[in-house]
Amino acid sequence: MNKILVTGGAGFIGANFVRHLLEHSDCTVTILDKLTYAGNKESLAGLPASRVKLVVGDIIDTELVDRLVAAHDTVVHFAAESHNDNSLREPTAFVRTNVVGTFELLEAVRKHGTRFHHISTDEVYGDLELEDSQRFTETTPYQPSSPYSATKASSDLLVRAWVRSFGINATLSNCSNNYGPYQHVEKFIPRQITNVLTGVRPKLYGSGTNVRDWIHVHDHSSAVQRILEAGEPGRTYLIGADGERNNLEVLRQILELMGRPRDEFDWISDRPGHDLRYAIDATPLRQELGWKPEFQDFSSGLERTIHWYATHRQWWEASKEITETQYAQQEQLVEGVKSS
Ligand code: NAD
Ligand code: TYD
Repeated sequence: MNKILVTGGAGFIGANFVRHLLEHSDCTVTILDKLTYAGNKESLAGLPASRVKLVVGDIIDTELVDRLVAAHDTVVHFAAESHNDNSLREPTAFVRTNVVGTFELLEAVRKHGTRFHHISTDEVYGDLELEDSQRFTETTPYQPSSPYSATKASSDLLVRAWVRSFGINATLSNCSNNYGPYQHVEKFIPRQITNVLTGVRPKLYGSGTNVRDWIHVHDHSSAVQRILEAGEPGRTYLIGADGERNNLEVLRQILELMGRPRDEFDWISDRPGHDLRYAIDATPLRQELGWKPEFQDFSSGLERTIHWYATHRQWWEASKEITETQYAQQEQLVEGVKSS
């Protein structure tokens, strides 16, 4: 594992993963990233040029992908359109990047015999009931709800078919909701933190009872590294850190940590098709590969994340304005929903 190609390495999880790899291995990294609205060169600031190179390009570019894959030992594939709300507004780029882009990478790794790790989401499994002990496992049937999760599910199925039909050396991982530094301000946690920092009221969709299973992005990185080291070819691993919380709880925790009143937020009309609950059973990853998360104190992880956004305003200020203008066009305040 010396020369690694990381697609989407200028995005939230990809950039954190590249930083993790450089710290915990002696590999060199090439990042292939289109620098869409979600990619940010600044997320790679300060990384040593002797070990990291950024190639700005599209994963659907057959020739570029072929050339880069041929020159690397391993591909870790993060690049994607990643936001549910955008996929509801304009799904085209999701099909193009998430499905066709993954296909292009698979064809290149098939040709060159390159090790491939595919990054995916627990959202491919659809959602769970709120009051239920059930959690997602590797054998839960796929039942994606949104254009985003449907395109991620499609990409997973392509990887599985390339393993079975062509014997490519690939592993997959499906992770729960990540939080931490360098996350785009369109996503729930950084959106609310930066709302408070800019004097805007946070926005909660629907009833606020939807549950997400939060994991710190550094724990996602260590899990992927462990799968690269010891994962069984062809296997899918679920990554999660037992972090189930509903959105109202998370928002109130952010408000409290930022010294604001607990009801200082707006209720917003619900997201269409809004998944109720995600929850991951990561037992195989823990027992077979010996992985364990380090950031299990959610409150301190959140506090550090708040501190990061408070001290990196130049990283997010420009995209904040654009993001909130877009949200304002689609969001409607809901009167009369009362929190308990
Ligand atoms: P992100 O939106 O922050 O970053 C995506 C990156 O991919 C950006 O740098 C963007 O420029 C790049 N990109 C997009 N289209 C491209 C293309 N056609 N060619 C090359 N680069 C392109 O996303 P993220 O939150 O970092 O998610 C990364 C991966 O992890 C995705 O595959 C996502 O499905 C998966 N995932 C995310 C979460 C989460 O909580 N954010 C949880 C589980 C899995
Ligand atoms: P998000 O960060 O978009 O991740 P995902 O849709 O992949 O789970 O949203 C996390 C949860 O927060 C989801 O239940 C939707 C909700 N949400 C809000 O309540 N308000 C917001 O402003 C946003 C962006 C999300």
